[in-house]
Amino acid sequence: MRGAYGMDKLSAARAVIDRIDAEMARLFEHRMTAAAEIAAWKQANGRPVRDSAREREVLDRNSARISDPVLRTHYTAFLEGLMAESRLYQQSLLHPELLWVRAASGAYPIYLCSGALREAGDVLELDRTVFIVTDKGVPASYADALAAQCRRAVVHTVPQGEGSKAPAVLETLLEAMLRAGMTRSDCVAAVGGGVVGDLAGLAASLYMRGIDFYNVPTTLLSMVDSSVGGKTAVNLGGVKNAVGTFWQPKAVLIDPDVLKTLSARHVSNGLAEALKMAVTHDPALFARFENSAGYGPVEDLIAACLRMKRAVVEADERERGLRRVLNFGHTLGHGLEAAAEGRLLHGECVALGMLPMCTPGVRARIIPVLERYGLPVRANFDVDTAMRAISHDKKSSDGLIEIVTVPELGRFAFQRVTLSELRERLLMCIEEQR
Ligand SMILES: NC(=O)c1ccc[n+]([C@@H]2O[C@H](COP(=O)([O-])OP(=O)(O)OC[C@H]3O[C@@H](n4cnc5c(N)ncnc54)[C@H](O)[C@@H]3O)[C@@H](O)[C@H]2O)c1
Repeated sequence: MRGAYGMDKLSAARAVIDRIDAEMARLFEHRMTAAAEIAAWKQANGRPVRDSAREREVLDRNSARISDPVLRTHYTAFLEGLMAESRLYQQSLLHPELLWVRAASGAYPIYLCSGALREAGDVLELDRTVFIVTDKGVPASYADALAAQCRRAVVHTVPQGEGSKAPAVLETLLEAMLRAGMTRSDCVAAVGGGVVGDLAGLAASLYMRGIDFYNVPTTLLSMVDSSVGGKTAVNLGGVKNAVGTFWQPKAVLIDPDVLKTLSARHVSNGLAEALKMAVTHDPALFARFENSAGYGPVEDLIAACLRMKRAVVEADERERGLRRVLNFGHTLGHGLEAAAEGRLLHGECVALGMLPMCTPGVRARIIPVLERYGLPVRANFDVDTAMRAISHDKKSSDGLIEIVTVPELGRFAFQRVTLSELRERLLMCIEEQR
């Protein structure tokens, strides 16, 4: 009897919820239609999509309508989410060229277009203090172009190279942020390659327990890979990326025009990460690399890679599953990078590290592509140094190391191997064994 009564109550409550949800779906469409009109008005009047003062007012006014204090907290969170979606919708209408990454921790746009740097103020919130991190090798005009669009900009330049991904450099950066009087509502912007992006992203995630971060990648590697996905890090004790966080950028701004000043070697270095994604995910993209006429417009290549990276990050933001596929070529690559002591670049080591992870047939197709783009297929290394670095690598547990293998182009598998099996594979890309 009681059971039947309980079921009746359940059905009645569900019916109420169903009715409310149906009504809310109708109201949602209505609300978004109005949001679209507001977006069009803002565009016509040169106003930014986000109006923080109005959002605060809407939030306070409506939250005050909820009498139960517990429910009020839930309602405020609900309304904040709704307003974020509305903003997203407005931005996607105004900028159809934006690529959105919907990570579990929040959505953010990638703005990819020639000349984007000059228009940064249209898509990034620069009406505050912006702490711009760059390195000595990045032409200063890029950081200056961004600085010119900020209410207040502080440009902090670190030495170029992997050596800047170090705790001491991070500390200097954080101290400079404090000295600059950065508050929780200010932001950090990285203008540079993966080194600057990883370092500045980490600083942003730590400062005052985390402030907004914009990534403005200026190398091909950082455009196709490192600027998206929120991995930040510095190296520690010779271990690559030993200290880091997941901290998604608020937006990524990619201006392929800045690649004009990038050296051919660094362009190839970036191609290695693009190839990594093509080999594991996209045989058609790989075929473009095999084309003797070249891989086509760089903007298309960047967009293709970003779509792949986005899908992986959206499925697995914290690298608990699928995202581990992006480590293809990196397990050996990181070891080789440590043993290279600066002789080889990150992408070059990844290129080498991919080869022993493929079947002979796949390897035979990758090698000519690497050679065409000036990437190494064998190198001279101290095997023990590389193996020491690999055994410290974060992917190792219980003496086994996870690797990503490629049985055929466009497919991948995760495998756990012993250090001695890994050593055997490593020997395949070593020129002179010691
Ligand atoms: N966070 C991630 O998901 C992720 C992914 C892949 C790689 N990474 C990291 O990225 C780093 C490598 O990044 P990278 O290859 O961009 O190296 P980098 O940041 O060192 O940049 C390469 C060089 O190019 C110069 N440079 C940058 N932009 C330029 C431009 N437009 N014109 C002329 N010179 C320019 C820099 O001064 C630097 O000397 C590694 O530390 C790697 O671990 C991170």
